[in-house]
Order: sequence, then C-alpha cells, then structure tokens
Amino acid sequence: MPEIVPLEWTGEALRILDQTKLPQEQAVVVARTYVDVANAIKGMQVRGAPAIGVAGAYAMALAAKAVATSDVRRLQGYLAEAGQQVTAARPTAVNLAWAVKRVLKAAANAASVGEVRQRLEGEATAIHREDIAANRRMGVLGSELLPKEGTVLTHCNAGALATGGYGTALGVIRAAWEKHRNLRVLATETRPLLQGARLTAWELTQMGIPTHLVVDSAAGSLMARGEVACVVVGADRIAANGDTANKIGTYTLAVVAHENNVPFYVVAPTSTLDLSAATGESIPIEERSPDEVLLWGARMIAPKGMAVRNPAFDVTPARYISAIITERGVVRPPYGEGLQKLVAE
Ligand code: MRU
Repeated sequence: MPEIVPLEWTGEALRILDQTKLPQEQAVVVARTYVDVANAIKGMQVRGAPAIGVAGAYAMALAAKAVATSDVRRLQGYLAEAGQQVTAARPTAVNLAWAVKRVLKAAANAASVGEVRQRLEGEATAIHREDIAANRRMGVLGSELLPKEGTVLTHCNAGALATGGYGTALGVIRAAWEKHRNLRVLATETRPLLQGARLTAWELTQMGIPTHLVVDSAAGSLMARGEVACVVVGADRIAANGDTANKIGTYTLAVVAHENNVPFYVVAPTSTLDLSAATGESIPIEERSPDEVLLWGARMIAPKGMAVRNPAFDVTPARYISAIITERGVVRPPYGEGLQKLVAE
C-alpha cells in the first residue's frame, strides 16, 4: 500500500492533499504564498494538529521567499507579522503556534536575508521529518497498550492525513494491527465535518483494516454492550495537568468509556503539549461557521435562520484518560509530573 502523503514541499511551494475533497477526489492544492497556506488551514484543506503545524512552518519559509529585500531587519519584521496571521488561522491546536515560533526562533540570529531563508526552510523540513518519526515511535509504544484482538474505537481523523505522515491514534492502531491482525475498528462519523466518515474510513480501508463506521451517537451504547476494548484518539492541545482538547465529542466518549471501564488513550507528539496552560480551562476553543451544522452538502437541513452553536473542540478532563502516548514515552496519571519530565528531556 502506498503511503498517504498529506503535504509535500517542493522548495518553491507546498503541495497539499485537499482534505475537503476526500474521499471522492484526490486533488492537490498548490500553496505558493504564506497566505495560501493560511487559507488552506482555515478552510481545512489541511487539518489535524500536527499537519497544520507542519504546514504553518512551511508557510513561514514561503513568507521569507516572498520579500524582495536585502535588509534582514525588514524581513524579520515582515515574518513576525506573517507568523501572527498564520497562527491565527486556527486557535485550538497548539502545534500551529509551536511550529511558527520554532522556525522563527531558528532564524532569529541569522546575519543575512539568504541565511534567514535557508534556516526557515531547514527548520520546516526538520519539523516535518521529526513529526513522521514521532508518529512511528508512538505507533511502536502505543501498540503495546492495545489488546491483541478486539475492537478499537476512534474519533475524528488522527491518521496520516492529520499529521506530517503515518498518524497518531491511527498510527497506533495501524502498528497494532500489523503485529496481530486481529483488531477491528469502529470509526465515528464525527459531525459536523465528517472527518471520521470521509477521512478515517478512507485511510483504514486503504490499509485493509476491518472497520465499521458508526454515527457518533451509537458509540455509547456499543461501549455499554461490551463491544469496545478501548478508545484511541488524538489531541489538539494537552494542558500541564493532562486535560486534553480534541475534536468535539471526545469528552462525551471519554465519560462513557469511564462509566463502562473501557480504557481511553490519547496519542499525541510532544509538540501538542502546552504546559503554559495549567488546565484545560485556559485552552481556546474554536467556534466555526453555523453553516457546517446547518448544511448537509449544499442542502439546508434546519429551519432558515436557525441559531447554531458550533464549538469544534472540547476538553476531556485528565481523570478520564488512562494514558497519554507520546514519542518520548507513555505517561500515566497523575499527569503533571510525567508531562513535565517529558518536556524537560
Ligand atoms: O478540526 P480538525 O479536523 O482539525 O480536528 C482534528 C482533531 O481533532 C484531531 O483529533 C487532532 O488534531 C489530532 S490529529 C493527529
């Protein structure tokens, strides 16, 4: 099976596999400017916390190429502004702000415009490469926690598409399945944008992993009936105490998993940790357009003018999480000390 390539850097542009068109069409958006990348992130042509981090880093490399100047200070000023715009494209996934900060820091003391450009591009490709390696490592570590047989439930899409490549939660499922071949997956549709139905189902089908798609509201009763061995999800931001922001609906799944003694695992690279947030309360939650809820494709499904709330993420309290799997190790509750240690490494 060929690997899914969500993002490809050409040196002049970022080629983005357009996730709004999948699975019907495998179209590529060619982003030539940082504004193109920011728009692709806002429009969710590229989505998933680590993937938008990688894209954000390349956006900065594109920004540096766009300015015709030999004045390094002028370029740095332009980059700082561009960085703010890119970071603002989506607020919840900390990977985006983390990546933009990291590439800017790498270029901070460069002596010339050429050196700034070179350092930004080098750091962006390093972030991309490291993310794929982190995912593979989490696959190895996380697969140890999964049962040898049974059904794993996952929510949203935390696969290759949501990352630099390979996947976080789906990477763990994939690695476990490659070992034992006796796993099945339940993928939730993930209203309103159907990342589960469109993207996770597509990835798992391509890998040949037996999968059933379920509506979001079926997950609880299937857990209560003993049909789910564990839940494995990704994360958009993990606070210092282990509280975890992820796709809306994750909190509900975690509470029901807890009620039914089903282990609930979060898989995320250390770039998703935000230890400056003491608890989940300080994580910003993106509210998206009412149209995502009101429209089914092009068809209006609610009364005209209906008021809508559309939070795109929720926060799962650490007490419902059985373990957090990162590329630097598996952390068990209580999370505070374990997460601090990982970051200090
Ligand atoms: O709104 P999305 O599709 O970007 O939300 C994505 C998720 O919530 C994922 O679970 C999370 O980013 C982890 S991806 C490895």
